[in-house]
Formats: sequence, C-alpha cells, structure tokens
Amino acid sequence: MTTHETTRQAWDEASAKHVREHREHLEQARTWSLLPIEEELLRPLLHGAKVLHPQSGHGLDDHALIRLGARSVLGVDYSPTAVSAAQRRADELDVPCRYEVAELPESGLPCESADLVYTGKGALIWMADLDAWAAEMHRLLRPGAHLFVYEAHPLVPLWAWDPEEARVREDRSYFATSHVNDTFPARGATEHQVTLAQLVMTVLGAGFELLHLAEHPEPFWRPEGDEPAAAWDGRLPNALSLLARRS
Ligand SMILES: C[S@@+](CC[C@H](N)C(=O)[O-])C[C@H]1O[C@@H](n2cnc3c(N)ncnc32)[C@H](O)[C@@H]1O
Repeated sequence: MTTHETTRQAWDEASAKHVREHREHLEQARTWSLLPIEEELLRPLLHGAKVLHPQSGHGLDDHALIRLGARSVLGVDYSPTAVSAAQRRADELDVPCRYEVAELPESGLPCESADLVYTGKGALIWMADLDAWAAEMHRLLRPGAHLFVYEAHPLVPLWAWDPEEARVREDRSYFATSHVNDTFPARGATEHQVTLAQLVMTVLGAGFELLHLAEHPEPFWRPEGDEPAAAWDGRLPNALSLLARRS
C-alpha cells in the first residue's frame, strides 16, 4: 500500500468514531460553538454566506457556522464514513449542511461557488501539495470572498508531550517536509509539513490578500485522558489563525 493509501485508510477507520458517537454528536451540535477568535473574525462574513468546508471531518463546526448566519455549508472529505456520519446528523437536525466525498485538492466543485472557505483543525497537514490546495481554494471562491484557516502551528510536530518540561523532539525538524504521525488518526499516517513562512507565501502566491495572521498558545486538540503537556502551558505557539481575501 502507498503512503497515501495508508493515510486515507487510517482516516476512514478513525472516522468510525463519528458513527459510534452519533448520539453525543447530535447533542453537542445543538450548542457547538467556534473559538472566540473564529467568531470574532467570521461573524461579519457569515450572514447569508455559502460556506465550503474542505476536510470537514466530524463537521460539528458547521452547526456553529449556520447558527452564526451562514446560508449553507458544504463539507467535503475523502472519508465516506465521515461524510455519511455528518450528513446523517445534519438531516436529523434539519440544518442546511450537505456533505460530499472528494479527494482534495481536486474537489470537482464549480468555480466561484463559495463565499467563504472554512478549514483547518488538522486539515492542511494532509495536503501533499499545498500550492495545488491554495489554487483550488482560489478557484472555488468568488472574487472578494474569504479563506479562513484555524490550524495547528507548524511548530507543533516538534513539541514533546512531557507534562513536566517543554521539550523539542529529537526526531523532528521544523524544516522537514513530512513525518509519520504517532497519535491520531493512526500510527503510519504521513503528515506533511510547511513552515509558517511557506504557508503565508503559498496563500499570497495563489492570489489572496492577507487580512489576518495570528499565533495562539492553546492547541486546538488535546488527546483524551492524558496529562497536559508542558508545551501547552501558554509560552509556545500551538495554533494559528489566518484570514485572506481572494483577488
Ligand atoms: C483532523 S480531521 C478533521 C478536521 C475537521 N476540521 C474537523 O474538525 O473535524 C482531517 C480530515 O481530513 C480528511 N482528509 C485528509 N486528507 C484528505 C484529502 N486529501 N481529501 C479530502 N479529505 C481529506 C480526513 O478524512 C479527516 O476527516
């Protein structure tokens, strides 16, 4: 099996969690909210917006986007299991969210069909070709529309999870182009890496204007049950937010 197939299969297997947790997700979706920085940046853009959510995963954020004023959300993910779990929940709650299976960066969706692309929280690390991803996001957005990303900071793969002391892992480099994931979704999945500068230059190079870029100390995801890592104690970057406008 190729690296790519291993990763894809790992995600489809990991997405069975969304099926098992259907009842909890139904309850969570009713009150699910975005992070404060996401709400602050997106609230003014969401009224009546057609939102595209690439790599939508469990899709719980989509319910928050609708409550904040989006007209509709289209989630796209290559895991059929994730797509059907998210669609089942949206149908049962009667919200205007639709989910499709597609392997990004090629979405197969029409040009200029979205007012906002909302993505991240563990999405970009699965894109082997970030230039192709940025070009596709540009193609899918109408002129003047926005790209929003809330993502793990590119330094995150370097942080060890020791609870006592923040430490850089010996086996990782900020300038590496990939590493093998040893947490979720499964051992063996290959995560791609870019530096913060490469991410920003890729977005600019695709024809976006940068409106906002910020680094945050709080990770967007923590493994369940483990003691918090010292790297999450507020002194190191663990997430970033980026808002850009399509030319
Ligand atoms: C961390 S998860 C979900 C992120 C999502 N924002 C969320 O909060 O649930 C990453 C998702 O990306 C999907 N994915 C990974 N590579 C993909 C690709 N090339 N095309 C489409 N989906 C992909 C996986 O199936 C998974 O559902």
